[in-house]
Amino acid sequence: MAFTYFFRDMQTLEMIRDHVLPVLRTRRYIHVWDAGCAMGPEPYSIAIILRENMGHMLFRNVRIHATDIDGSNLFANIIKNGIYPDEQVKRIPKDILNRYFKPDNTGNYTISEEMRKALIFKKHDLLSLKPVREDFGLIVCKNVLLHFKEQERINVIKMFHAALGADGFFVTEQTQKLPQQVSHLFKQVQSNVQLFKKI
Ligand SMILES: C[S@@+](CC[C@H](N)C(=O)[O-])C[C@H]1O[C@@H](n2cnc3c(N)ncnc32)[C@H](O)[C@@H]1O
Repeated sequence: MAFTYFFRDMQTLEMIRDHVLPVLRTRRYIHVWDAGCAMGPEPYSIAIILRENMGHMLFRNVRIHATDIDGSNLFANIIKNGIYPDEQVKRIPKDILNRYFKPDNTGNYTISEEMRKALIFKKHDLLSLKPVREDFGLIVCKNVLLHFKEQERINVIKMFHAALGADGFFVTEQTQKLPQQVSHLFKQVQSNVQLFKKI
């Protein structure tokens, strides 16, 4: 099982807040795809950052499509129930933890219903090259592409490009460079970060 935890990558969350959110909030419906989401901390962290910075009313129009190839029902159940052990939530700033999570007496934390309602988990293989829907405002795919062969990476990134709406964004991890064959499809938002805007 992939290991991941909440607020693992604060830099990406801040980029989403500062560069992506101002564009997303002009849309009526906001669809985000977290591709290769593991058991949920990453898509829930994105949901929290959006909710913190857009308020309740606008957040009602947010849908985070969280997908992973994991075949067991485990990811689906963990994400649906939103219950996580304390070692996965300890990087969350205290005030945010208190606002979005309820501890129980077994050392687990349950994320709020508002966050659970915003997330839709689906089993999905990126190498099928079939997007889960179109017109995304943001696609996040981190620590997944590195496992693919170069041509697979190129095909998956082309699929992401086609699945983004106009002005949509694509985020990958800091160490993942965009292959030259697809670099003309995106504009890098800032030279030192792997945040790209669809051209
Ligand atoms: C290291 S985890 C990354 C989790 C999260 N994105 C993060 O950065 O914290 C990689 C995830 O990619 C998923 N994965 C691997 N191959 C995939 C594929 N072909 N399609 C979709 N997901 C895949 C794995 O099941 C795993 O959950």
